[in-house]
Amino acid sequence: MDLRAGRFDGQMTDDAAAFSSSIEFDKRLFDADIKCNRAHTTMLIEQEIIPEESGNKILEALDKLENEGIEALDLNPSFEDIHMALEDYVTKQIGKEAGFMHTGKSRNDQVCTDVRLTLKWEIENTIANIKAFIETIVEMAKENTDTLFIAYTHLQHAQPTTFAHHLMAYANELRRDCERFMDTYKRVDMNPLGSAALTTTGFPINRQRTTELLGFSNVMDNSIDGVSSRDFAAETVFDYAMLSTTLGKISDEIVIWSTYEFRMVECSNQYSSTSSIMPQKKNPDIAELARGKSTIAYGELMTILSMIKGIPHSYNRDLQEVSPHVWNAIDNTNDILRIVHGMLATLTVNKDRTEELAGANFATATELADVMVREKNLPFRTAHQIVGRIVSDAISEGINTKDIDDDYVDRVAVEVTGEKLGLGEESVKRALDPLLNVKSRIVKGGCAPEAVMDSIEIMESFLKE
Ligand code: ARG
Repeated sequence: MDLRAGRFDGQMTDDAAAFSSSIEFDKRLFDADIKCNRAHTTMLIEQEIIPEESGNKILEALDKLENEGIEALDLNPSFEDIHMALEDYVTKQIGKEAGFMHTGKSRNDQVCTDVRLTLKWEIENTIANIKAFIETIVEMAKENTDTLFIAYTHLQHAQPTTFAHHLMAYANELRRDCERFMDTYKRVDMNPLGSAALTTTGFPINRQRTTELLGFSNVMDNSIDGVSSRDFAAETVFDYAMLSTTLGKISDEIVIWSTYEFRMVECSNQYSSTSSIMPQKKNPDIAELARGKSTIAYGELMTILSMIKGIPHSYNRDLQEVSPHVWNAIDNTNDILRIVHGMLATLTVNKDRTEELAGANFATATELADVMVREKNLPFRTAHQIVGRIVSDAISEGINTKDIDDDYVDRVAVEVTGEKLGLGEESVKRALDPLLNVKSRIVKGGCAPEAVMDSIEIMESFLKE
């Protein structure tokens, strides 16, 4: 079967044929291409467009190919793509009658049907994997609702929290990543088959029927749009890029938190490397690589957007080049997801150290100012000024958070406002206690154990959906 036999009297150069072949990355479309041909052929038989007997022989050959697997195809680059390789297989099985299979169908609608089907499976798989990761995070959070932890802004000591609260931030970001995929899925789940080359066909095909047979939710309403559009692919890759961002940020924190200077967590040995010269080293290479590789999907997204930007409507061969970038973004992000899941699940928290950090370096200063507002009716700005001065005095006098007492507070209050505050020893100590700080933040989204448990419950009901 030689496509060129009618129109041309010769072949492309080998170089041009290899340059234009998509067969290598089309392997990804093998299952979808069988399903697409089977649905189309079934519909052609039902509509009495092709002889039933020939149609049934085509269907048998497709079943046989499905059983034998992709190795049964001749993946010679002179075939241009998987669609031609598959047609070649069917022709070798049943002879010329294989030619009925392509009635009222073009590779233009076939390829985007295949890509859409494959992306639906990929998205389903990724959603399941994100949910499994969230499940692990939720289990870890349950164990750590009172594990004191320090939270940062500007990567500077900010306020005490718990490890569970921080973990649940990851879970919520991942939930949105998941929901983004679910939303994109609706726009991937549309059937372009029947658009043929670009204007449909004069045969009385039944597009609703192939939509049903392929399990799509909707049929695409315009055939030019059907074969032209790749926004569904760009959008899917954006979702992978965004998921990569979440995973890259988690990895980045693991790198920082496991330094000697922070010492908040330790990576398991299974996710660590050492140095070829410095025998003492334990390096978080896997976290660093996850952070590094998390950029790959961004590049693929830019490539795809640039490819689909400057081309006129309907099918252009440029569109073929979108596919390998889609697969690469997916494969890379799936790898990172698997690795980061394993790495976080095996991480240990150095609880003594995180408790020490939660109480150090005036991380509880906000609460001291809040107590002045609550108990002495001070405007927050005045309280902010008094506490700011307490901290700067304490730093220059070499005094720690623990050593600030009622007298110290009053001395500074007199300097700033001319009056003592008289909070009392008990109030000052309570305000500066990191555990009490955490326990007082019971508002929705807060770090108090019961607030985090509420957020865990919400997450668990999302996972059950
Ligand atoms: N390999 C092509 C692709 O991936 C299939 C469609 C080819 N169509 C054509 N008119 N050459 O886009």
